[in-house]
Amino acid sequence: MADREVDHLLIGGGVASAYCASELRRRGAEGSILLAGREPEPPYDRPPLSKEYLRGAASREDGFVHPRGWYEENEVELLTGTSVVSLDPGERTAKLQGGEQVRFGTALLATGAMVNILRVDGAQLDGIHYLRAFGNADSIRDDTADAEHVVCVGGGYIGAEVAASMIEMGRRCTIVEIEPVILSRVFGAEVGAGFQRLLRDRGVEFASGETVAAFEGDERVGTVLTESGLAIDCDAVVVGAGVRPDTMLAGRAGIEVDDGILCDAALRSSAPGIFAAGDCCSYESELHGRRVRFEHWDVALHQGRHAARGMLGEPAPYRVVPYFFSDLSDWASVEYLGGAAEWDEVLWRGDRDAGSYSAWYLASDRLVAALSVGRSEDLLPARRLIESGEPVGDRRAAIADPDAALDPLV
Ligand code: NAI
Repeated sequence: MADREVDHLLIGGGVASAYCASELRRRGAEGSILLAGREPEPPYDRPPLSKEYLRGAASREDGFVHPRGWYEENEVELLTGTSVVSLDPGERTAKLQGGEQVRFGTALLATGAMVNILRVDGAQLDGIHYLRAFGNADSIRDDTADAEHVVCVGGGYIGAEVAASMIEMGRRCTIVEIEPVILSRVFGAEVGAGFQRLLRDRGVEFASGETVAAFEGDERVGTVLTESGLAIDCDAVVVGAGVRPDTMLAGRAGIEVDDGILCDAALRSSAPGIFAAGDCCSYESELHGRRVRFEHWDVALHQGRHAARGMLGEPAPYRVVPYFFSDLSDWASVEYLGGAAEWDEVLWRGDRDAGSYSAWYLASDRLVAALSVGRSEDLLPARRLIESGEPVGDRRAAIADPDAALDPLV
């Protein structure tokens, strides 16, 4: 027997759930909404954690998706510090931490992702940090206040952004990255090398093509040992070695999971009435012509909203072009659209030496992704061209000419 009933149960206290709740109300849902999240805070945006929040230039409240009072005003019951411990999709019940059983009409799985933990000797030493939540950013800020040299393990978004923040805060910083070039998996080696040069010019040091073999120190980390034998002395470490989708609750409930909760094009999981959104959602994308999963704030926002449609009985294919931004201090404002796994041609627009350009990634004459460094205006026509799926053909000349208007591209 359930202890109580709700119309919509939102599982996970992040961006996807928060935007799902507001979209449900915006679309006129009158039923009860319960949002349960493990973290002690209301849903918040994570992008500032490696940037302004880390540097102490923004408060926690600045990052809240909705102000604290919004939930009560909109009759959304918010349970922070509360995990959903089990789910019975057949009975449509969920058990909350503490034992309460909730019967639901529809549910959203927005359980997010978990950081990859390095399992090497010395991994338990003090001074080794991961970055996912407010508390992590607080610890990094406090623990690096007097640090001279900080090592970032991983040259992905966390590594690049934290390194930029560390330099801005007056620390020395070295990035240890397994690939020859940072940020190359998504952007390609050429663009990645440009970002690596930019960071190096600003003082970031690199151990490229290197992975961590062990951490050494007496209680506290003092040295990072790499597989090839480098010994990098440091005062603190920030690990950004990627994340993996949190599918545990769904998997235990018998919902189909793999690298994410497996959903159809309309973000429906294999269990009727249960949707997924955000980092944990692996969906059949009509836009990409394959199954995809993204770990971006903007995707979580749009998928959360989109799932609300489905939860109100209006499911439709999710076709929003994935977007994300990354600020490397105020040295470069990076934006990216698309999410291409591969491409066979890159067109350049603008001045790469001056750090103001866009890169257009093509596969079989179709635009599959676009990157802007300080040229946001290029992204709207790029988005239209990606959405249209039309051949690029002789639009190449206009794209490559920074003075040519892009409006009539599609
Ligand atoms: P990531 O997947 O972007 O990068 C991980 C990097 O670590 C990769 O370059 C990988 O080659 C490297 N790596 C993995 N294991 C390693 C090892 N043992 N030694 C050396 N290098 C290793 O993940 P990251 O940076 O941890 O970010 C986590 C999540 O946060 C991602 O989902 C990301 O999308 C998100 N994020 C997004 C931001 C944005 O949109 N601006 C900013 C910061 C994080």
